[in-house]
Amino acid sequence: MRLLFVCLGNICRSPTAEGVLRHLAAAEAPDLQLLIDSAGTGNYHVGQPPDRRSIAAAARRGIDLSDLRARQLVREDFERFDLLLAMDRQNLADMYTLALPAQRRQAQLFLEAAGHTPELEIPDPYEGGPGDFELVLDLATQGARGLIARCRRSAATGKKLV
Ligand code: 4NP
Repeated sequence: MRLLFVCLGNICRSPTAEGVLRHLAAAEAPDLQLLIDSAGTGNYHVGQPPDRRSIAAAARRGIDLSDLRARQLVREDFERFDLLLAMDRQNLADMYTLALPAQRRQAQLFLEAAGHTPELEIPDPYEGGPGDFELVLDLATQGARGLIARCRRSAATGKKLV
């Protein structure tokens, strides 16, 4: 199963979600052999490591984001990945614009697809304070747990992820 996290800059939310899911999947679901990546709808930060505030917040939870580098979402990502997971509704709208009509169902709100939280969006922390980066990690962790459960159900039933 191939999962791509998508936000605007690919330096705060989606690399955090990528790192959290990699960390949890390695510990709790190595058998699922998930392929995990992240990308941004925008190109402002291409080639850059995650925001230092995201790196620091993840490091406090034992998760290393420092090797990740930002890249922009491309149409081919809809062929390379089964499920493309948007952090907010604007990301989802931008992904719809890029996708062919038949590929749009592969793009979903991360937290809605994960189904473990009442929240549906992960707010952009870029202009925010430390608490906003902690919230990204909290929501990404709950979402990652939900995704692992969804992938487990898919593997157990043989039904496709999307
Ligand atoms: P992200 O956060 O989409 O979670 O990576 C942002 C990073 C950079 C900008 C906006 C959001 N920016 O405008 O540069």
